[in-house]
Amino acid sequence: MIQLKNITKVYKNGDNNLFALKGINIEIQKGDFVAVMGASGSGKTTLLNILGCMDRATEGEYIFDGQMVSGFSNLKADLFRREHIGFVFQNFALLKDYTLRENVEIPLRANNIPKKKRNALSDEILIRVGLGDYIKSFPTKISGGQQQRCAIARALVTGADLILADEPTGALDSKTGQEIIDLLKGVNNEGKNVIIVTHDEKIANQAKRVIRLADGKII
Ligand SMILES: Nc1ncnc2c1ncn2[C@@H]1O[C@H](COP(=O)(O)OP(=O)(O)OP(=O)(O)O)[C@@H](O)[C@H]1O
Ligand SMILES: [Mg+2]
Repeated sequence: MIQLKNITKVYKNGDNNLFALKGINIEIQKGDFVAVMGASGSGKTTLLNILGCMDRATEGEYIFDGQMVSGFSNLKADLFRREHIGFVFQNFALLKDYTLRENVEIPLRANNIPKKKRNALSDEILIRVGLGDYIKSFPTKISGGQQQRCAIARALVTGADLILADEPTGALDSKTGQEIIDLLKGVNNEGKNVIIVTHDEKIANQAKRVIRLADGKII
């Protein structure tokens, strides 16, 4: 179970304090699929970054399966992220000079997995997301939907149990976006927690529940 207790995030810009999150409380049970919605600037990405240990809350507690993540050192938080978190971005964020396999291998390199095992794990996951024919292709030679599949493969390859996706369908047409959501539903059906940010009600309605943010608070 994942718990956020009274999470506040303050960005300091000179003398101005910007309260991006104001006392957020969330409980996420294993196997949940959450859609986060809200206007631009409401704090969605800030929330996702804290959940993904890319950023720290200013105040409050983040507890993951009983571990007090908010109290971790930077090093411990990095290791925790590598083990438990997979990130998917709106613009895919693939390296264009790397093949799909090399892109998917990136988090495995960070985890010091030897080459043979890296290749095997990457290829297996690329086949699973429907990219078996493109393992040695480059991202510029495949469609946006395929690039997002590859980004999802990269998020899954380490066996992460929390998949965070910031507008994963924002750069895709609606049919391709639906295919990406179907893929994420499959991931969720395997018991992984999936949290997506979306502006699309049709997509949010397919999640198990929706969290709505306004001005840094849950409404
Ligand atoms: N690194 C930062 N430094 C200062 N302020 C920031 C920073 N990141 C975000 N903010 C501010 O925090 C607030 C929340 O931003 P956030 O990016 O979480 O919004 P969002 O809901 O993801 O918006 P969008 O839908 O446009 O992506 C905004 O007012 C934003 O300007
Ligand atoms: Mg955002």
